[in-house]
Amino acid sequence: MSFSIVVGSQWGDEGKGRVVDLLAEKADIVARYYGGDNAGHTVTVGERTFKLHLIPSGVIQPHTTSLLGNGMVINPSVLREEMGALKDAGVDVSPDRVKISFAAHLITPGHRALDKAREKARGDEKIGTTQRGIGPAYTTKVIRSGLRMEGMLSPPDFRVSVEKHIKAINIQLRDLYDMEPLNASRIADQYKAYAEELSPYVADVGSICDQALQAGKHLLAEGAQGTLLDLDHGTYPFVTSSTPTAPGALVGLGIGLGSVDKVIGVAKAFQTRVGEGPFPTEVFEDIAQRLRGTGEHFWDEFGTTTGRPRRVGWLDSVLLRYASRINGLSELVLTKLDILSGLDSLRICSAYKKDGEMVRELPFGPGDLSPYEPDYVDLPGWEEDIMGVRAWKNLPEQAKDYVAKVEELSGLPVRLISVGPERDQIIRR
Ligand code: IMP
Repeated sequence: MSFSIVVGSQWGDEGKGRVVDLLAEKADIVARYYGGDNAGHTVTVGERTFKLHLIPSGVIQPHTTSLLGNGMVINPSVLREEMGALKDAGVDVSPDRVKISFAAHLITPGHRALDKAREKARGDEKIGTTQRGIGPAYTTKVIRSGLRMEGMLSPPDFRVSVEKHIKAINIQLRDLYDMEPLNASRIADQYKAYAEELSPYVADVGSICDQALQAGKHLLAEGAQGTLLDLDHGTYPFVTSSTPTAPGALVGLGIGLGSVDKVIGVAKAFQTRVGEGPFPTEVFEDIAQRLRGTGEHFWDEFGTTTGRPRRVGWLDSVLLRYASRINGLSELVLTKLDILSGLDSLRICSAYKKDGEMVRELPFGPGDLSPYEPDYVDLPGWEEDIMGVRAWKNLPEQAKDYVAKVEELSGLPVRLISVGPERDQIIRR
């Protein structure tokens, strides 16, 4: 029996998709536990690049089963499109290999409309959400009026529930946000059709995980977003509405305590974030452009889901140590080390300064980072292109020193280093 959790240790977009694809070589089951199509996981295999929003990145490995956990919020229209694209690329997405928890919640056009309306109403205080309806869908879940996948097992009843749900949202759209109501009957018809198509995928994901673990199989849980976007432990209120941290894997899949073997944190060799919120090590101008890229490559720092340019900055080890504590990380995967090639000198934030004092650990989490200024360790860069390097010994000394510094400051071993988007552009240690 083995159960590993892959979790983002920054603000998402750490490259979890390509890491999960790689680790899935040895997994029987890959399961997503929280979030929805706000996530965008990119996996490159040879000539093909897959962009996944809902289905776990492990689906590309043909021997795996893919699970979508009860913690997820699923937009059935996006799911159908994603399944269609995978099918066209020859990936099997039949109910034999893709299963969705009966207790996962559904996102509707009502949730999306509310997300947009609320962001607009926030004005300058907007969160910068992906506008995929994530917050409103989790809100309806928490106030206990959500739509669950299990409803799809009876399409006519499901149709009635969807119509009622849209009518309720219309009241909010009209009265609170002065917006046009949605066509409840048309949406209900559409969701009935989705129910007829997707009901074969409805399953008891928790029970499947339990049976697999009892049978000695290898389960890999794939986190979406990242630790600093966690509703409780992130940079609140600039967070998502779910639990991307490792403990979320247990709740979001329905697995009991005591079964976790390894928690693998994925961190970019620098730091990025999309949307609003604090970012102490953020950089601007030339260096920002250099780290972000121009957008000409799909791995440049532009959102997979929204296309928004990502904010970029130096690696922040205060936040990395925090992520290690909150998730109970056992090891790190460091991604995009290749992007640092050619920079004269590199920086890592080792601590914060506040009123002349050094702060190594955050006293009250990362909610308010405004009083802190980063204190940096400067390291020499390297000239060589490292995208072709596959062995640790062949990395330039400065690159090895950089990784060693990340290990020292995070207190975690770096087991894998990615030096490009391809499956084989990886250094194992
Ligand atoms: P929401 O999840 O759409 O409500 O967005 C809340 C915040 O989380 C915003 O700052 C988004 O940019 C950010 N966010 C949500 N999902 C992702 C992701 O997969 N990668 C990076 N940022 C994300």
